[in-house]
Amino acid sequence: MNPQKTVMIGLGYIGLPTAAVIASNDIQVTGVDVSEKVVETINQGKIHIVEPSLDELVHKVVQDGYLKATSKPVAADVFLIAVPTPFKGEYIPDLSYVESAIKSLIPFLEKGNLVIIESTSPVGTTKKMQHIINQERPDLEGEFYMAYCPERVLPGNVIYELEHNDRAIGGINETSTKKAQAFYSLFVKGELHATNAQTAEMTKLVENASRDVQIAFANELSMIADKADINVWELINLANKHPRVNILQPGTGVGGHCIAVDPWFIVSEFPKEARIIRTAREINNYKTEWVIEKIKNAALKFELENNKKPKIACMGLAFKPNIDDLRESPALYVTQSLINQGYKVLPVEPNIETHEHLSIYSIDEIIKQADIIVYLVAHKEFGLTVDNSNINVLNFVGL
Ligand SMILES: NC(=O)c1ccc[n+]([C@@H]2O[C@H](COP(=O)([O-])OP(=O)(O)OC[C@H]3O[C@@H](n4cnc5c(N)ncnc54)[C@H](O)[C@@H]3O)[C@@H](O)[C@H]2O)c1
Repeated sequence: MNPQKTVMIGLGYIGLPTAAVIASNDIQVTGVDVSEKVVETINQGKIHIVEPSLDELVHKVVQDGYLKATSKPVAADVFLIAVPTPFKGEYIPDLSYVESAIKSLIPFLEKGNLVIIESTSPVGTTKKMQHIINQERPDLEGEFYMAYCPERVLPGNVIYELEHNDRAIGGINETSTKKAQAFYSLFVKGELHATNAQTAEMTKLVENASRDVQIAFANELSMIADKADINVWELINLANKHPRVNILQPGTGVGGHCIAVDPWFIVSEFPKEARIIRTAREINNYKTEWVIEKIKNAALKFELENNKKPKIACMGLAFKPNIDDLRESPALYVTQSLINQGYKVLPVEPNIETHEHLSIYSIDEIIKQADIIVYLVAHKEFGLTVDNSNINVLNFVGL
């Protein structure tokens, strides 16, 4: 396959790095985003998210003329979709963004084009979207190719993983799978595993549900160990000395756009069967409430002993270490709940400069001011922050 004109719809944490990596292989990429600010920023060769080495790459491909951002799709050979797929109401997948991305490309679709969905999606989404295209463009029925290819990159290491991770690629038919494999082979060095669309869709959901269940086990242990007056970090470390045991680390809960969301896509479709998956979600959500209760108890103890309300430093707002992504973040949830309940809170997040609702404090400021320090995220900046035995420390992340 020769380099193809490509359109990437959705220029966020997944779409922008993917568009930039494709463009860096001398493929003409038009990035499409509904946010004018995103479009403007990228066309200036700048980025609106934090991701190591992405800024240089975007700067280069924009300057070289291989990546251009717009607010509407254009004609192309390949259309990729990386728009959000959140849930709505009682954990029902919200496909409205994918549907609107599909509808936006339909007027530009031509015979022989390839449409690839990368957004994490419930099983059956690719076929549903194919049906929408067929309904609006009966002239193209059977004349275009379509595939699902989930993304499994690690924020913070996206550029490397985009190029080196294996991919599962599932077409609506075999030709679509082969066309999509040929396209990814232009910029992916990892293996490209062929399957069908519904298996590829389920693969992504299962990967994240598996992580969620394993984290739930660690979080459940942390609450049991606390009650039994056992240090959970030591406990897990010792148990992991067994050659076939590998328990993960507990934390404040589970957040982000993937692990905290995707398992619900399985539960909502298979409510009777997905019992461990549902329980794991509930345990991980409960862990966050448990953390809040622990902090409130420590605050009450401080108030009784000192006759004043403590200033509580909440260390970290992101959903995991060393990133700026606050989506579905349990640390942010803890911080906001404490504020809403009237506690004096000093939020610290070294990966962001400002927040629309919260005043962000520096590490130096909180060491001078805080009465209680609560570690909610294991950011690298937090190692050995506190060297003051007068400050009460609650460490939920094993720093
Ligand atoms: N962030 C991750 O680490 C990660 C990893 C694997 C998979 N995913 C999946 O990838 C998908 C995208 O996630 P993300 O983190 O990049 O989201 P994001 O919110 O960072 O970016 C999505 C972008 O799409 C734009 N957008 C929304 N609707 C649009 C439309 N109709 N047309 C054009 N642009 C539109 C938004 O303005 C935004 O800039 C989701 O399904 C997510 O579950 C994310």
